[in-house]
Amino acid sequence: MLKQYLLSPGPTAVPERVLLRMAAPMIHHRTPQFSAIFAETKLMLEQVFQTKNDVLTLASSGSGAMESAVINLLSPSDTMIYVNAGKFGERWGKIAAKYNINAVEIKVEWGEAVDVSAIEAALEANPEAKGVFVQASETSTTTEQPIREIAQLTGRRDNCVIVVDAITALGVIDMPMDAWGLDVVVSGSQKAFMLPPGLAFIALSDKAWKMTEASTCQKFYFDLANERKNQVAGKDTTAWTPAASLIIGLNEVLKMMLEEGLDNLYTRHQILAKATRAGVEALGLKLISSSPATSATGAYVPEGVNGGAFVKYLRDTMGVTFAGGQDHLKGKIVRIAHLGYYDVFDICTAFSAIEIALNRFGYPVQMGAGVGAAQAVLAERFPEQG
Ligand SMILES: Cc1ncc(COP(=O)(O)O)c(C=O)c1O
Repeated sequence: MLKQYLLSPGPTAVPERVLLRMAAPMIHHRTPQFSAIFAETKLMLEQVFQTKNDVLTLASSGSGAMESAVINLLSPSDTMIYVNAGKFGERWGKIAAKYNINAVEIKVEWGEAVDVSAIEAALEANPEAKGVFVQASETSTTTEQPIREIAQLTGRRDNCVIVVDAITALGVIDMPMDAWGLDVVVSGSQKAFMLPPGLAFIALSDKAWKMTEASTCQKFYFDLANERKNQVAGKDTTAWTPAASLIIGLNEVLKMMLEEGLDNLYTRHQILAKATRAGVEALGLKLISSSPATSATGAYVPEGVNGGAFVKYLRDTMGVTFAGGQDHLKGKIVRIAHLGYYDVFDICTAFSAIEIALNRFGYPVQMGAGVGAAQAVLAERFPEQG
């Protein structure tokens, strides 16, 4: 037997309480019984988004919500600005290209946060731009982006919105949609929402809904106005067959999140992230990001260690799944997740495994050095006694 630990930034571990709830016999989705669950879930989701807007639930992965943001707001030949600071930022440009949207790229070195003045300059150079598309947390480089500051720029413009991919940020960091003036926020189920993959979420401000009225991009399944007509309070259903089991699981997840309290949840994530950075540094490894994410921490594997083989060994020989790198970071990094159903002893497990693996790969590290440095921070989770 090899006990398995899932420590990747999506999919993440699903709590037993949620698994048990989803194991109940299937119910039909066009029933008062399902609608009651749907309505309650939507209200709780809106608390986590910190918005008065409708949060719509789609049966798709997160990329579906990204695409629906583009095609519901814009029309072919419109201009948008997007931040390409990694694999997921790049995706905005790929989506835009499919719909003949003029996408102005702000390219950022992997591991860096975008300079807000570069966005300001792009907005000035492209006054016709209808949106700035950005990741709150760019998972490929484990980097947080200054979405609040960017929202201040778009907020001053009548016909320009900020669209935030919060797929590994919502439920991790405090990013109140309404208070910060975020026009569109998208997220997905298999990250901080502690569910299997298959659900995406999207919320639009009034300004963004207004913009959708002029959009002429082709859309059928991802027509958000049609979804809203069905999902609003009182209707409490979805345009198409919903991923009912996942929505029932989501109902349980949101109860867990709200029982913990959002402030406590953000603090837990901050402590786990800080502890992970301390562990990485204690092992003499280098962080990838100069603006490290609260959701996951990326570190370069030591010179001479093949990062691909390292992550594979951890997964297949030791039973601990981390994520490696993508594109030019492939084979060079390990990404340790700490979003969703994670707590202090998951971080200890992560460093214990990494230390053993480093030694097995011929890179001697003091056993317990990373664990110990992390523990010193993790102790903050518990009150002093005596
Ligand atoms: C920041 C970010 N954006 C977009 C995506 C794509 O989401 P999905 O794989 O659910 O389509 C991911 C997935 O890891 C992500 O982390």
